[in-house]
Amino acid sequence: MSARLLPGKPVADAVLEDVTARVAALKAKGVTPALATILVGDDDASAGYIRIKQKQAGELGFVSPHAHLPGDVTQAELERVIRGFNDDKDVHGLLVQYPIPGHLDYDRALQVMDPDMDVDGLHPLNMGRLALGLPGPLPCTPAGIEALLAHYDIPVAGREVVILGRGATLGRPLAMLLAQKRPTANAAVTVVHTGVADWPRYTQRADVLIAAAGVPGIIQPEHVKPGAVVVGGGVRYEGRRILPDVDESCAEVAGAITPRVGGVGPTTVAMLFRNAVAAAERATA
Ligand SMILES: NC(=O)c1ccc[n+]([C@@H]2O[C@H](COP(=O)([O-])OP(=O)(O)OC[C@H]3O[C@@H](n4cnc5c(N)ncnc54)[C@H](OP(=O)(O)O)[C@@H]3O)[C@@H](O)[C@H]2O)c1
Repeated sequence: MSARLLPGKPVADAVLEDVTARVAALKAKGVTPALATILVGDDDASAGYIRIKQKQAGELGFVSPHAHLPGDVTQAELERVIRGFNDDKDVHGLLVQYPIPGHLDYDRALQVMDPDMDVDGLHPLNMGRLALGLPGPLPCTPAGIEALLAHYDIPVAGREVVILGRGATLGRPLAMLLAQKRPTANAAVTVVHTGVADWPRYTQRADVLIAAAGVPGIIQPEHVKPGAVVVGGGVRYEGRRILPDVDESCAEVAGAITPRVGGVGPTTVAMLFRNAVAAAERATA
């Protein structure tokens, strides 16, 4: 391996230090920030993610009211529970753990949520705010990647950033974010996908290559410009195994690279709490 490693934990720690200070400031004003969570069904992985988020919420000083709904819950009941949290003045942030069972419509459920409480930053109104450069909760994984690049002093302004994948949670919002007119963005962004058969032609010229496909091993050394920065966002889970988009051998070619595990993930979770504390600040301003 020759590439410098870009672990997400130091980035997440810096973000969470700021969150901790902001939680303390809210508490000094008599406000306990609350991040509510909704879990549908009994999927082990989803239940595990919720437990981790709740544990971390507690450590950061949030309370986290939780609704665990049965796997056969109706769409109407799920939406009723979301509206209940929307209307609860003591709750500031809300997330519905994804995925939810197939008979339910996640996008419709998301649209019922108060956009200002949407800590995942995926509500259509928040995507619209992002497109327009208006303040609001940012999608966590894209925001985490921008923070990671900034933390390691990797400039993207004026440089060629290529994103493999145009999905709604990662590639598409990340492209909007990194093309914004701000010092830590301002990039020349290209997005490639299955509609671009010769996508390696684009990735090979990227100063910063971001994998957002969810196809294990899709990025191989020959797709990377020597010395480029490679960020692995896309992953597929097979049980507890994490299968990243970026093949480990890319480290032989890249100048800097996120590690196979512990790269983008910790920054995503940190951004969730940044959105949550911001929601509490807005609600109680
Ligand atoms: N690390 C984290 O914390 C974190 C958080 C959120 C998401 N993720 C991961 O990020 C990835 C993307 O999430 P998403 O929801 O945005 O995904 P998505 O909606 O499934 O989008 C995947 C994108 O990749 C493209 N793609 C798939 N196979 C391809 C191929 N063979 N060649 C070229 N392009 C290909 C697709 O192209 P088409 O549009 O043409 O189909 C699509 O645009 C997933 O792996 C997800 O697990 C990671």
